[in-house]
Amino acid sequence: MTNSPFRDDVLAGKSAFIAGGTSGINLGIAKRFAALGAKVAVAGRNPEKAAAAAAEIGSGALGLSADVRDYGAIRAAMEQAHHANGPFDIVISGAAGNFLAPALGMSANAFRTVIDIDLNGTFNVFRGCHDLLAADASVIAITAPQGENAMTMQAHACAAKAGINRLIGVLALEWGPHVRVNGISPGPIEGTEGMARLAPDATLKAAHEARIAMKRWGTCHEVAEAAVFLSTSAASYVTGTVIDVDGGTSKGDAARAV
Ligand code: HXC
Ligand code: NAP
Repeated sequence: MTNSPFRDDVLAGKSAFIAGGTSGINLGIAKRFAALGAKVAVAGRNPEKAAAAAAEIGSGALGLSADVRDYGAIRAAMEQAHHANGPFDIVISGAAGNFLAPALGMSANAFRTVIDIDLNGTFNVFRGCHDLLAADASVIAITAPQGENAMTMQAHACAAKAGINRLIGVLALEWGPHVRVNGISPGPIEGTEGMARLAPDATLKAAHEARIAMKRWGTCHEVAEAAVFLSTSAASYVTGTVIDVDGGTSKGDAARAV
């Protein structure tokens, strides 16, 4: 891979479980992990999508079907991955749902649905993986600038990602020193479902870009590199924090609404 400081075998033999790893940013992480030698399992709701993702990742990756809102289902998927690949060195909680709507345009069920997928789903993945972890494991939640910044049309995602950010700190305290718990907060990432929903036209995209320090959207590869960093000994003293991979999205003017 061009533009990477990581050796091709930096994750050799590591076992990784990625909830929500069947498309977009998380699939990008899964592919990068496999390319660097990890044994990878990904899970999403749709079994055909999970199978296609596993084929795209290659290297014997497992594609599993489970809804993170269902503790028993996601736990069963993790047990299957653990049985195949061994104790997890890396667990990623990346499943999320999002749509643009003002708070008054959301039913109680609409708000609850995003909280359930993002926040409760992350609790389920983290709670469910703990006794399946290897020594010195790295556990990572994929959060978003919404976790720090209020944004119009994003009451559900802002509340959910803020909850995830605080959960990261609590679990880092409770699970140290042998488990590190961190988050990655991507900014707008090219070619993803998330940005197709949040900036569906060229005008909105240009407005986004103008407010970002780097003046462009990021790539799945750039997010994956942060996940690799957090999963190596280079991050051995990094826990309880959120790394912004957002080109400066969360600073100053760029932190404003969608
Ligand atoms: C208002 C909406 C809505 C909308 C759905 N709902 N879309 N309300 N505006 N645009 C309401 C529904 O009417 C329903 O409420 C409730 O939400 C649940 O909808 P369901 O379709 O029954 O839920 P479900 O099948 O579980 O699907 C969940 C979903 C869906 C979140 C609604 O969009 C989904 O599966 N998304 C996964 C993919 C995704 O969103 N990827 C992007 C992640 S990106 P009622 O009251 O009618 O029952 C991301 C970006 C972050 O997070 C940051 C970027 C910078
Ligand atoms: P995406 O392509 O829609 O990926 C979402 C993944 O989660 C898919 O694998 C999806 O598969 C799975 N998923 C959704 N609901 C699930 C559920 N209830 N149970 C299990 N799996 C579920 O999204 P993306 O845009 O790449 O975003 C990925 C992550 O990055 C999210 O956490 C998002 O909040 C974060 N993020 C994205 C951006 C961006 O620019 N896109 C920016 C900041 C943060 P199924 O549909 O088959 O379930």
